[in-house]
Amino acid sequence: MLFFIDTANLAQIKEAHDMGVLDGVTTNPSLMAKEGIKGKDNVLKHYVDICNIVNADVSAEVIATDYEGIVREGEELAELHTNIVVKVPMIKDGVKALKYFSERGIRTNCTLVFSAGQALLAAKAGATYVSPFLGRLDDISSDGMQLIRDIRLIYDNYAYETLILAASIRHPMHIIDCAKIGADVVTTPLNVITDLLKHPLTDIGLAKFLADHNK
Ligand code: E4P
Repeated sequence: MLFFIDTANLAQIKEAHDMGVLDGVTTNPSLMAKEGIKGKDNVLKHYVDICNIVNADVSAEVIATDYEGIVREGEELAELHTNIVVKVPMIKDGVKALKYFSERGIRTNCTLVFSAGQALLAAKAGATYVSPFLGRLDDISSDGMQLIRDIRLIYDNYAYETLILAASIRHPMHIIDCAKIGADVVTTPLNVITDLLKHPLTDIGLAKFLADHNK
């Protein structure tokens, strides 16, 4: 399973990269705003800065919601760097744009996916990645993990090549359950990756080993 980090924070991206477990980065307009990145030139420069840290897929989201605008923005983003994956919202014009990008070899990430039907449309349009938002479904008392299971089943039934990128990850069990189901990728905040390290028996065992060594 691939690990992507879900942030636009350069220090956190570098930290995850230095751990040796990072396979890519996802961003969204809210994450860019959180880092105070404003204005088109600064936003584009920030994507390049991320690509220069991680030599792997970096999702950059379009703001336009009409077909022509999505295509225009997506092509501009894709030209920035070979690592860029164009993130497109799950709307009718977005699906049409996914098809356009797919036919031209531009990699895409279909975002804001909350149902199996939406995931099926994304795959049929040739999306490289589909991003079901697990945590946001859990937040409204829906079963986010069941959606991942359903998409895995549907994609396997028809051998769709679209990769399942489980997004909106909130805690380590989301990662473990995604791995059991066979999600291709998880994108998570840095703290959820480092939370995977934690086990009290590891801490107790290490303290004992060090104490015995010093005897
Ligand atoms: C990633 O592609 C998504 O934009 C992100 O995982 C959403 O996460 P959130 O629900 O924590 O905002």
